[in-house]
Order: sequence, then structure tokens, then C-alpha cells
Amino acid sequence: MKLTINEQEHEVSDENPDRVLLWVLRDELGLVGTRFSCGAGVCGACTVHVDGAATRACLLPISQLAGTRIRTVEGLASKGPAGEARLHPVQQAFLKVQVPQCGWCMSGQMMTAAALLERNPSPSPQQVVEAMGGNYCRCGTYCRIKKAVLEASKLLTQETEP
Ligand code: FES
Ligand code: FES
Repeated sequence: MKLTINEQEHEVSDENPDRVLLWVLRDELGLVGTRFSCGAGVCGACTVHVDGAATRACLLPISQLAGTRIRTVEGLASKGPAGEARLHPVQQAFLKVQVPQCGWCMSGQMMTAAALLERNPSPSPQQVVEAMGGNYCRCGTYCRIKKAVLEASKLLTQETEP
């Protein structure tokens, strides 16, 4: 079967359509930025976007993904006019605020944050807390995550201003 991931089509085996997206990304396609942690849909470390919505890849059978657009952390940056990588405002903000500690949860955090800002580019601090509440960070970087998401919102607003 074909999966559209980061705007590229990938042919993956449909021998076992019940296998979950996380292992197809990591083991078949080498997209190891999406992380495994609880494997039970609880922690958010495996968050990717499916048709723009933050979705947990550890519970998602690939049989449900035909015709969808999947985005992983590897597809968060865009390309500039000379082909250079342009970090997404969320990535820029996470760097600026120096959010990560061990870093394991970070791709999931950034994917949840990017999905939030796509549907609400100017969230309130409370809306950030609510949207990010399902993504756990065992290092306890929650204050910096909140600060970085609000910073990303500012960057995004600047980018879209005429
Ligand atoms: S690894 Fe998927 S939610 Fe924890
Ligand atoms: S930075 Fe270590 S789990 Fe979040």
C-alpha cells in the first residue's frame, strides 16, 4: 500500500495491515524522529499529524491511513528559495527557549504544538496548557514548553504579517 508521508509517497508492505504506523515509520522507513515510549497511547511521544491533526502513531494501524496525509517531525521544517531548511516556528522557539532536557519527548511535543498553532495561531496560555496536557515529559520541562509554544505563536504571527 501507499502512504503519503511528508509530501512523498512511500510504498509499504500490506502483508500485515494491522501493524501500527510508529513501527512502519521507524523500522521500515527510517523516520526515527517519531519516538516510542509508552506504546499505549498515553504519553504522546509518538505524535504525528494525520490530515493536520495530532495523532498517536503507536496505536494507529496503517490500514486506516490510505488516502491520508501524514506528517512527521522530519517534515516540520520547510525549504527556502535556495533549498535551505527553514525551521518551523515551533522548532525555532524550542531552540530559543532551550526546552529539551533528555529530548526524548520533544518530537511529540513539537508536533502537538504545531497542530495547535495550525488550528489556533494565537492561543492563550491556558489553551496551550490544555492542548499540551496529553504530552508527558519525564524531565519536567513543562514551563519551558509552555513558554516556547507562546513564543512560536509570536513568530508565526510575525511570519504571516504583511
Ligand atoms: S508511545 Fe504512543 S502515546 Fe506513548
Ligand atoms: S525532555 Fe526528557 S522526557 Fe521530555
